[in-house]
Amino acid sequence: MVRTVEAFAPAKINLTLHVTGQRADGYHLLDSLVVFADIGDRLAVQRAPDTSLTVTGPLAEGVPSDESNLVHKAAKTFGVSAHIALEKHLPAAAGIGGGSSDAAATLRALADLTGKPVPPVADLLSLGADVPVCVGHGWQRMSGIGEEIAPLANGVRWPVLLINPGVDVPTPTVFAALQSKNNPPMPDEFPDWSDRSDAVSWLAAQRNDLEAPAIAARPVIAEVLSALRGCLGCELARMSGSGATCFGLFESVESRDAAAEAIRTDYADWWIETSWILS
Ligand code: C5P
Repeated sequence: MVRTVEAFAPAKINLTLHVTGQRADGYHLLDSLVVFADIGDRLAVQRAPDTSLTVTGPLAEGVPSDESNLVHKAAKTFGVSAHIALEKHLPAAAGIGGGSSDAAATLRALADLTGKPVPPVADLLSLGADVPVCVGHGWQRMSGIGEEIAPLANGVRWPVLLINPGVDVPTPTVFAALQSKNNPPMPDEFPDWSDRSDAVSWLAAQRNDLEAPAIAARPVIAEVLSALRGCLGCELARMSGSGATCFGLFESVESRDAAAEAIRTDYADWWIETSWILS
């Protein structure tokens, strides 16, 4: 019998994303606090003579099933061929790691199926700068261009609202439009995340340096942030990655759900998902 391994590819959220420099090859140095949400894509992976991919699910439209999909490239990097069934729940090119998280889930599933380890970080990085962090879990500090990963000792569950206004943001354009590429990193001391008011004030003092250039390219992102900030109980609203998805951290499930309902009424065509940040 052919064994199938199921894997979850959670939404990745950059609670902070500081751009601290640029390498000679053009890649940017980052300092980012990366967490995951409990919504994501689902994969089922089986070994097969050739690699193939089927894409289904509510957000499958426009997602390629050919070799351009990162899932194909991940199987190739792993060195094993497989059939992969991918159920898309996350928007693509949206700053929440859709493709990177799918690739990471493929690698984890192949490691489980074969008993071989996930390839080294340098190989993961060539799939995408967000792939190494997506192979991990929990709260992680990501630096370098994405290859330096430091797991945090503890994180917390936190009600979150994710909103994507349905525009693509080309990542290279956003990086290229940065005003300053040499911004301060995060402090080395993290707060006690279970102290909500400390956690919120610490996060509020940090940034996503890509937010301003992304808003310049896609002004609707500012509208998403102001819709979130206008909701009762929203403790912090920020863009994730290079956008366009923004997240709102809420003081309670009730305030998060009320915000989702209110924003859905005003913006029926936005992708709006209630979720939890995982600890
Ligand atoms: O590696 P990934 O495919 O996610 O990167 C997409 C683009 O984003 C790169 O081609 C590069 O222009 C930019 N990028 C960057 N610095 C990083 C990550 C991405 O300049 N650390």
